[in-house]
Formats: sequence, C-alpha cells, structure tokens
Amino acid sequence: MDNKIISGKNISESIKQNIKKEIHNKDLKICICVIQVGDVSSSNIYIQLKKLACENVGIKFKLKKFKETIKEEKIINYINWINYDEKITGIIVQLPLPSHLDKHNIINNIDPRKDIDGLTDFNLSKLILNDDPYFISCTPLGIMELLKHKEIELEGKNVTIIGRSKLVGMPLFHLLLEKNCTITLCHSKTKNINKLLKYADIVICAIGIANFINGKYLKKGCIAIDVGINKIDNQIVGDFNYKTCLNKVSYITPVPGGVGPMTISMILLNLLKAYKLEYDYL
Ligand SMILES: NC(=O)c1ccc[n+]([C@@H]2O[C@H](COP(=O)([O-])OP(=O)(O)OC[C@H]3O[C@@H](n4cnc5c(N)ncnc54)[C@H](OP(=O)(O)O)[C@@H]3O)[C@@H](O)[C@H]2O)c1
Repeated sequence: MDNKIISGKNISESIKQNIKKEIHNKDLKICICVIQVGDVSSSNIYIQLKKLACENVGIKFKLKKFKETIKEEKIINYINWINYDEKITGIIVQLPLPSHLDKHNIINNIDPRKDIDGLTDFNLSKLILNDDPYFISCTPLGIMELLKHKEIELEGKNVTIIGRSKLVGMPLFHLLLEKNCTITLCHSKTKNINKLLKYADIVICAIGIANFINGKYLKKGCIAIDVGINKIDNQIVGDFNYKTCLNKVSYITPVPGGVGPMTISMILLNLLKAYKLEYDYL
C-alpha cells in the first residue's frame, strides 16, 4: 500500500535542499513580504509554515500586519511602496481577507514580477494564453511537479478537477490542458459529481470538504490528488475519504504530507525565480 502514496514531503525536501545550496553558494539576498490583514488563526499557521521554510533555506521573511479594519487604500499604498523596494523580492497577500476589502483589486496592485502567487490579472491571463507567465500559483505548480516526479503520462488522460478557484482549480485546468489532458472542471453548482469521477484517470479535489470523495465512485487504478485541508477532531484530513480510496487508486497524495509541502517548496522556487527576474541573473 505504501508504494501508492506520493510523499510530497520527500519530494519537496530535495527541492528545498537544492534551493538552499544555490542561495548559499551564490550568496543571494532574497526577501519575501507577506501581507496579513486581521488575525485569522489558520492564516497564522500558514504564515508560520512559510516563514520557517524561507528561513531554513536562507530567505528573509518580512510580515506586514494590518488591523482587520484597515482601509483598502492603505494596503494598496503599502504594496505600491514595496513594489519599488529592491530588498523585497516577492509579495504574497495572505488570504482570506476581511469582507470589506476587494482582494482582486488589492492583489492586482502587486508588480507581476513580484507576484509569486501568480494571482495578478497579468500572470493569470498569460497562463490562460499559454504565454509564459512570470509566475504560476504554487499549489498547481507543486501538483504538476508531483505528477512529473512520478513520471505520470498526462497526454490523452481524462482529468476531473473539483474546485475552480483562481489559486488552485483554474490554473490547474490550464496547466493540464497544455499537457493535452481532457479536463472536467467541477464546482459547487456541478450536478452529480460522483458520476463524473467514473471516467477520470486523475481526480484532483480542492474544495475543503472533508471526505467529499468516496472510493466507490473512483475508476480502478486512477490517481487521486488531494488538495483539501480540513480539521476534524483536531486532526488534519483532506477531501478524499482515504480509507475507501486506497484500494481503488494507483497513487494518492496524503493529507498532511502531500500537496501542502509541495506548495511551500514552490513558493521558494518562485522566490528564486523572482530574484533572477529582478537582477537578470541566470
Ligand atoms: N495543500 C495546499 O497547499 C493548499 C493550497 C491551497 C488551498 N488548499 C486547500 O484546498 C481547498 C480549496 O482551496 P481554495 O483556495 O481553492 O478554496 P476556494 O477559493 O474557497 O474555492 C473552493 C472551490 O470549491 C468549490 N466547491 C465548494 N463546495 C463544493 C461542492 N460541494 N461541490 C463541488 N465544488 C465545491 C467552489 O465552487 P464555486 O466556485 O462554485 O464556489 C470553489 O470553486 C481548501 O481546503 C484549502 O485549505 C490547500
């Protein structure tokens, strides 16, 4: 059974070691700025994970915290200021934001060359047009890296993605399309999702509902990529019902230890890319 489990933790570890070596050997001065508004507890955990990962490879971590009641204009002014700060290599706005703020407008003020989450209109539209965006969102990038690492042939495969967010499902759709997959992209209004799983060679679920996918609906031998992060009884679980899926799949990513660590290592990789863009450094 163990050989069915794709350990994102192990794969990301070797990526991180390579990044660390490059930063150290070339003495690169890289710094990320994470902007947080308010004090959402899950955000605090994700920010802490990013901080640890950055500091472990020699990347400086700057956290800019704003009060929950902050005006949008103040955040945008700050972003415009750090866009020109040579010491800041990459910028992330930690989501979610309080409801009075327009996240689209805020994120769109990030210089696309520092937008390491790949969420500005500039980078997203380049992705959609298959026109070499500066950055692609880290979770979809990490998933593509996992599939590549396992040498999974993608051309001609039927893929069902559940969840269409700009952060995960939507970029994945385009990355897999580029690899000549046939994709079904599901969302909250999709009817009868279980029926759509039957023909899928690869199922990717990114909705944040624990145990949403039961193995009985999966095609035998499919690949299951679990993006969801859900808390049940103080335990972190994914969107797949792991027990029922394990017998059906040829590969599955665990939660925790699957897609999550890959996302973190792709943040580091995108920061390295941002540095190279800024200094025209090869
Ligand atoms: N492992 C990682 O590194 C990582 C990274 C990012 C996110 N995540 C996790 O992945 C999950 C999704 O994150 P996100 O940022 O993409 O969330 P999001 O922006 O809230 O999007 C959720 C998506 O799920 C869809 N959805 C919700 N309920 C559904 C249902 N019953 N049936 C089908 N689709 C449904 C929504 O459809 P509509 O568009 O119709 O509303 C939406 O497209 C969360 O658990 C998050 O914590 C993990």
